[in-house]
Amino acid sequence: MTIPPGAAKLAVFALGLVPLALLLAQIIRSDFGPDPAQELAGSTGEWSLRLLLATLCLTPLRQLTGKVFFVRIRRMVGLFALFYASLHAFVWLSLLLGFRWHAIGEELLERPYVTVGFASLLILVALGITSPKAMVRRMGRNWKRLHRLVYVAAILAIVHLAWVSRTDFGETVFHGSILALLLGYRLWRRFARTAGQAARR
Ligand code: HEM
Repeated sequence: MTIPPGAAKLAVFALGLVPLALLLAQIIRSDFGPDPAQELAGSTGEWSLRLLLATLCLTPLRQLTGKVFFVRIRRMVGLFALFYASLHAFVWLSLLLGFRWHAIGEELLERPYVTVGFASLLILVALGITSPKAMVRRMGRNWKRLHRLVYVAAILAIVHLAWVSRTDFGETVFHGSILALLLGYRLWRRFARTAGQAARR
């Protein structure tokens, strides 16, 4: 039995909303430890990184399985990563810093982990804005060049996580290894393609 592409996309959309539903349930039940704002910042940050890495897995999955479905959901998963990253930044702006603009400016300039997180978010915003099909057509080859920055956004997010983790690096090593594998795969594909072209010439 084959699942219609529309239904599969809808299922992925519903899955993307699960973290939000879990967060809302946690807020309604007031089910937090001693520092709710920190906990919310932590879980939204984790979800944005997970979804960013999930987005990066989709092209290799398409190449390895031949299933176009994986690239059809890539934009949606990427936009969910941006959505949770924006929520994460909003929690920081509102709950952690109470919209005190002076403090926000100071943190951005003086705390490198915030600067790095902000840079990652800016890239995700640029990729989100240029993700509609009309932008792909309008930007031509530059679209691909710009969207390669997704790897830079992911590297910055891992650096941000390492900085935030301070002493417990388990999560950083785990997520960093996934990113290293994905980057390695990409480089290997490029190398194999160039070698193939050289052999044909
Ligand atoms: C304006 C941009 C950003 C700011 C100000 C920011 C700020 C923060 C802060 C204050 C924390 C510490 C929370 C805690 O102590 O538990 C944190 C953690 C984290 N952030 Fe960000 N962040 C930003 C962007 C991002 C982006 C773009 C990502 C991922 C794509 C990200 C992923 C994470 C992760 C994974 C954690 C660790 C969560 C944990 O395990 O507790 N952040 N961020």
